[in-house]
Amino acid sequence: MEPGHSVEVSQDALGAPAAPCAMVIFGAGGDLTKRMLAPAIYNLAKGKLLPEEFAIIGVSIEPFSTDEFRQRATKDIAEFAAGGVDLKSWEWLAKRLYYVSGDFHDPNLYNNLKETIAQVDKEQNTAGNCLFYLATSPEFFPIVVQHLGAAGLTKQDGTAWKRVVIEKPFGHDLPSAIALNKAVGEVLDEKQVYRIDHYLGKETVQNILAFRFANGIFEPVWNRRYVDHVQVTVAEELGVELRGGYYETAGALRDMVPNHIFQVITLCAMEPPISFDADAVHDEQTKILRAIQPFSPEKVLDQAVRGQYGEGIVAGKHLPAYRNEPQVARDSQTPTYVAMALHIDNWRWAGVPFYLRTGKRLPKRATQVVIQFRRPPFVPFRKTSVEKLAPNELVINIQPDEGISLKFEAKIPGSVVRLGAVNMSFQYSDYFGTTPSTGYETLIYDCMMGDPTLFQRADMVEASWTVVQPILDVWKALPPRDFPNYAAGSWGPEQADELLRREGREWRIPTSGNNSHPPAPPPTAKTTT
Ligand code: BG6
Repeated sequence: MEPGHSVEVSQDALGAPAAPCAMVIFGAGGDLTKRMLAPAIYNLAKGKLLPEEFAIIGVSIEPFSTDEFRQRATKDIAEFAAGGVDLKSWEWLAKRLYYVSGDFHDPNLYNNLKETIAQVDKEQNTAGNCLFYLATSPEFFPIVVQHLGAAGLTKQDGTAWKRVVIEKPFGHDLPSAIALNKAVGEVLDEKQVYRIDHYLGKETVQNILAFRFANGIFEPVWNRRYVDHVQVTVAEELGVELRGGYYETAGALRDMVPNHIFQVITLCAMEPPISFDADAVHDEQTKILRAIQPFSPEKVLDQAVRGQYGEGIVAGKHLPAYRNEPQVARDSQTPTYVAMALHIDNWRWAGVPFYLRTGKRLPKRATQVVIQFRRPPFVPFRKTSVEKLAPNELVINIQPDEGISLKFEAKIPGSVVRLGAVNMSFQYSDYFGTTPSTGYETLIYDCMMGDPTLFQRADMVEASWTVVQPILDVWKALPPRDFPNYAAGSWGPEQADELLRREGREWRIPTSGNNSHPPAPPPTAKTTT
């Protein structure tokens, strides 16, 4: 395919329409539904990936009628669907919208829901299949699941399936994640549970698997013999915005690390699975999580860094400190930044540090993985020390500019031998065009198709919390004394730079924008042959 050739979302590109079903969204009046789920479902409808036999039943506390819910959804979609609304697709979807109002604690809600599901099944021929999506705040997860079970709504008869999608955060520490798994397991079979992590809906995250396992040339160098270290950066330019209430109970570690960042790391580090079946992939991801060297209290102090943003000035604009954001305590100890070094104790990765960092109010929004290779062992250019050559770097840009680039040394034209680092770069948009997408499309479609590969299994969630629990414990026991310790708009606290510097390394600053044709790099070394 030629660069610039764009691929439309179509049945051919993405597959056949999903199986008939009614999708029940708990929390239908909430932000997640408005901003992400509704636009994603609309995009699926537009791409003809929903079956004719489809319906959405919104559930929340607001006392709407079905008609009011449809009107509201029509208003919201106009605001949140990227790229404008195609009227025909929206009308197709709007007439499949239903609404049930009630309190999630109230058994009557579930009786009403049962009646509505039966009515919808008759009107839309949804074949008794039901996808329950819990887009609620996390305290409702066990309550809704328990009530669904008690009302007999999760019972699978004959070929009709019932599945439950549970949003993040799945627990707020290891004991609560275990308890939630237990509560869910009392009602549902593990195969009915889809624990969502929206990072797995991102194209470039999925592309890590294709990149590694559909190519022959990378896997042989993907190990301790050739890789010096790996960096994962998930930087956010925004602050906590209006989510202070939630964020105060979470903080950067819980919010980003055991979920999004560990998904990225496990896909980068895992062994080739024996197939792309969900269990085969999850087994390999879980092995990585279990191989992460446990954090002793000393190691937490030495290898994990926390930070909180103070006020800052960016492009002449004053940005408030985290402690001055809405719903945040004026003496808050909540970290908005985390960095750490992980070590994976297996034959492939022993001795190769995996550095990760994430934070709010950093200079730009950028998520990237950097695989930094070892320097050449010997360079046959006189007067050039090996340290002067830039090491090869493979950069996987997850967002905003999805792509992959490889940095290597080249001779700068001229009569004197001089070397410079150059980039070979692939941008998704050059080859495949861009289609408006929230990242949730693939995930919702996969649930409807019964493919749990991009979801988290119970043991994976617990293995992730097992890694971070000691850090939560030490940080709780030793409240930070230096918060706020980085300015809004900076790259985070000085200790995070120090974490790498003392090992002779440094964080790679994410580049943004199309860097297929970067400006000529400065020479790294002038040599005489
Ligand atoms: C969410 C976190 O899960 O991910 C947010 O709760 C964070 O705090 C968001 O901003 C980041 O997602 P994305 O897709 O914008 O990188």
